Amino acid sequence: MTNLEVEIAGLRFRNPVLTAAGPTSRDGMTLLNAAAGGAGGLVAKTVSIRPADVPKPNMAAIEEGRTGSRRGILNAELWSEIPLEQWLEREYAIALSSTLPLIASLGYTPAEVSEIAPKIEAAGVHALEFSTHYVGGHAEIAKALRDAVDIPIFAKLSPKVDVAAVAKEVAPYVDGIVAINSFGPCLRIDIETGKPVLGSEEGLGWMSGASIRPIAMKCVADIARAVNLPVIAVGGVTHGTDAIEFMMAGASAVEVCTASILEGQTVYGRIAKEMDTWLDEHGYDSVLDIKGKALKHLREPVELKGIPTVDHAKCTRCGLCPKSCVYDAITVDKKENLFVINEEKCQRCGMCISVCPYHALSIDA
Ligand SMILES: Cc1cc2nc3c(=O)[nH]c(=O)nc-3n(C[C@H](O)[C@H](O)[C@H](O)COP(=O)(O)O)c2cc1C
Repeated sequence: MTNLEVEIAGLRFRNPVLTAAGPTSRDGMTLLNAAAGGAGGLVAKTVSIRPADVPKPNMAAIEEGRTGSRRGILNAELWSEIPLEQWLEREYAIALSSTLPLIASLGYTPAEVSEIAPKIEAAGVHALEFSTHYVGGHAEIAKALRDAVDIPIFAKLSPKVDVAAVAKEVAPYVDGIVAINSFGPCLRIDIETGKPVLGSEEGLGWMSGASIRPIAMKCVADIARAVNLPVIAVGGVTHGTDAIEFMMAGASAVEVCTASILEGQTVYGRIAKEMDTWLDEHGYDSVLDIKGKALKHLREPVELKGIPTVDHAKCTRCGLCPKSCVYDAITVDKKENLFVINEEKCQRCGMCISVCPYHALSIDA
């Protein structure tokens, strides 16, 4: 067993897989279920000065990928529909009974957060995460919060800003950065009706889930190199290996939203278990040993030696790699029933390696 414990801004998490602001952190009981489902810490749905008037419908899955997994979802859920008073009197207390660290999310303007942050702090939450999704003005909000409370503050950034520059701006006032919020605006049309699938203004929604993971990965790596603050990664974490990848890009922990919507509240424990298994198999004693491991390689060119090779013991002849080889370099040796790579045709693009679900293809780098 690997040690998965992490400490961020003085908060101790039993594992680095936290909930994220969204429908699966929408009230105290939902957060308690996430704790029971193995989350290492709790981040609650964003609250503001008044409850949100949420359009209906406000969530739509992005169609299935070839392997059957959802690529993500579009949402127009805004912030919490529950009045702040109910969060202060009831919901935070229920979540706190889990004994896990609880981070409250709040928004949006400097005046609004200054007014509500001290009340949320008084409710006993351990830290605050502020969302600037709709308003911008990160440094002003961060400063207003720093003047208003003593507990740790995390700034949650949208992928639409220069995240490294914004992280530097807010750094004097915050204890950590969370990246990223959902990406958008985006649009989907129901072709049977010709109408947008979401009930928001102009049918616009924000994208989350596996589709945005590479965007989030770049943001996390940029922030980790720009500021000396803990970074919590969020965006498409679905498997333990996604969390490992984020931690190698400099994250100290991850948050999970879309995967919990699609899979349920046991997703956090599953992801943490998968992290443990991967770290154990790769000889790591602690999750901290991989933090930022990839950052030093980002400026080095990846040099490939030779062409990919097929591990015939792992290959199941599923046929995915020849289908996605645009250079027709992969053929089946019918006599031996083996996939063979043609050295002259292979352009070393790397695609076959990434599509193989069995990790049967590799190339020396
Ligand atoms: C339905 C839905 C509602 C969300 N609500 C909030 C919110 O209230 N506050 C916030 O900061 N982020 C919110 N988010 C963004 C998520 O917390 C997260 O940053 C984003 O979805 C990327 O992570 P994921 O790919 O794991 O979903 C919401 C996302 C979804 C899908």
